[in-house]
Amino acid sequence: MQELKANPEDVNTYSNFQEVIQKEVNLDVQIDFDNKSMFGTIKTKYETLNPSLENIILDLHGPDVSSICLINDDLEKIDLDYYIYDKNLDKEALGTPLVINIASLKNKFIKEYENIFNKKEITISIDFKTNEKCNGIQYLTKEQTRTKSYPFMFTQCEAILCRTLFPIQDTPSVKSIYKVKTSISTPLTFLFGGILKSHFYDSETKKKINIFEQNIPIPSYLVAFVAGELEYAKISKRCGVWAEKGLGAAAASEFVDAEKYIEIAENYFNHPYEWKVYNILVLPFSFPFGGMENPNLTFVTPALLAGDRSMSNVIGHEISHSWTGNLVTNKNWQNFWVNEGFTKFMERKLDKALLGEEMSKLESIVGNNSLISAINMYGEDSHFTSLSPDFSGIDPDDGFSTIPYEKGYQFLCYLEEKVGEENFREIMGQYIDKFKYKSVDWTDFKTVYEDFVNKKFEGRNSRKILNVIDWNKWVTEKGFPTYKMEFKSKYTEEVENLINKFIKKEKIENAKKIFKEWHTNVKLVFLEKILKNLNDFDENIILEIKKELNLVEEYNDDIKAIWYEITLKKGMKEEIENVMNFLKTHGRLKYLKPLYFSWIKLDFQNAKNFFDENKIIYHPIARRLIQNKFNSS
Ligand code: BES
Ligand code: ZN
Repeated sequence: MQELKANPEDVNTYSNFQEVIQKEVNLDVQIDFDNKSMFGTIKTKYETLNPSLENIILDLHGPDVSSICLINDDLEKIDLDYYIYDKNLDKEALGTPLVINIASLKNKFIKEYENIFNKKEITISIDFKTNEKCNGIQYLTKEQTRTKSYPFMFTQCEAILCRTLFPIQDTPSVKSIYKVKTSISTPLTFLFGGILKSHFYDSETKKKINIFEQNIPIPSYLVAFVAGELEYAKISKRCGVWAEKGLGAAAASEFVDAEKYIEIAENYFNHPYEWKVYNILVLPFSFPFGGMENPNLTFVTPALLAGDRSMSNVIGHEISHSWTGNLVTNKNWQNFWVNEGFTKFMERKLDKALLGEEMSKLESIVGNNSLISAINMYGEDSHFTSLSPDFSGIDPDDGFSTIPYEKGYQFLCYLEEKVGEENFREIMGQYIDKFKYKSVDWTDFKTVYEDFVNKKFEGRNSRKILNVIDWNKWVTEKGFPTYKMEFKSKYTEEVENLINKFIKKEKIENAKKIFKEWHTNVKLVFLEKILKNLNDFDENIILEIKKELNLVEEYNDDIKAIWYEITLKKGMKEEIENVMNFLKTHGRLKYLKPLYFSWIKLDFQNAKNFFDENKIIYHPIARRLIQNKFNSS
């Protein structure tokens, strides 16, 4: 067994994608709800780049594999030798890869062996079966679903969890197309993130068969499946929602703006929405993120169903990924900000177009607050505070924070300021045109930006612009951004006024009316201000605020979560009951992390008892991250 090394171009994969590269994946999958397992066959066509290729190394983290075969020209199967590194999975962030021996074909199958290099092509088929170690899938019992009638399952592959479904080159450097066949018993639906090409009922197996295709090359982290009792509701010609039975209409009404968001983004990039169909899937509450940009099928938390569209910026964000992330993709997780910073930037452009400049400014303020607290949380010296963190030997999820989003966003605002809004828009469009279907790092964007400036501005003027931009400093330096961006909003003063009145215990007329009429973002600025200056508020003031503003029942989950964080940080035992109810019905990490982290600080033992009792409801990703916090506290 040779020593195993991570790939230097993407330290979170073991795959040798410089020697052999996945081009087309054919999947045939089914769900076994009784055994909580997804199983089937993955047949992959690779292009061979190295004429003396010996092994194909695939990422693998959990699933059982068998019958690894080469498929020859006559469609016969030829067994291949392979081995799996035997390591302690719990300790291995990257899993234990699968090494498929190609060189040994030479002994007995010389024709097939030579064919691989003559045609520069090889097709390999692998049977796989997932098990309870596969963290990219969550199974829910029927009791955990809305109608309590059928079990449910869904996947989450970003960042490096596709390898927990089946063996694959699990790196965003590699993009390929997919053909997927799913089969499931009625009345359940089994979907893949692609376009449904055909569906039929197989009377022999009594199963519903769906054939999907993803004909735009995608990275493995965008592979997505869901199975459960789902219903569909249309939003527009190309947009719709999938949701648990009974939720379709509410979801369609919450997300009506999807079509508008797409049109605004198409205009901004001057580049059509290439994916044709855009559907949103509303998951049960254990989904650990706000949204996930799976192609043709954005996954979202049901917490977005606030009834007032106040969280639809998440939809704008995931739609923006259709260009930044899904067409142009970060080539490794060190460049994660190239996905998320760009998408944050677009999210705020869309909100500006839809809700006005003031709203988008407020979002920048809320974002800047979260950037400051994230940097303080890690410490300014931590490499996680830079836009190019080092993920060698660790799971990128462990370094996840708002830093790549907000520091990346601020860098792009800075770059935009240097050339003006309209020029920057053109640069973004050129960047998409040039790098669509490819994987990039930040220097690829730098090239487009600099080429544009050099062409657009006369020699001296272009140098004036380019000379002041310190790309390296922005991208590689730890801590707060090199250049402090000013985000001002007329609401900041209103917020200060109301807060000061509470602090001074003045009688306030209409406090509730003022608060209620504010947009969610203003409310968030208000609550964050309290959170940041907790020493100015004694418990009585906090209780007064709660009473006066009627916190927290009638507001959305972003507001609730930050309110509960305040009460935990203040050590208010009387609110614990409410916090617990919230934690029993929410799985979004954005809420779980600050609430558990604050509770751990306040009362480790009770927090731990509660978590141990309830952790089964959380997604494996969330469970692992919260557990880590208990272990290190
Ligand atoms: N792609 C991310 C979610 C993600 C990131 C999952 C890294 C796993 C690893 C998604 O686009 C995202 O950023 N979601 C945000 C939306 C918010 C920024 C509007 C979320 O879930 O909160
Ligand atoms: Zn995102």
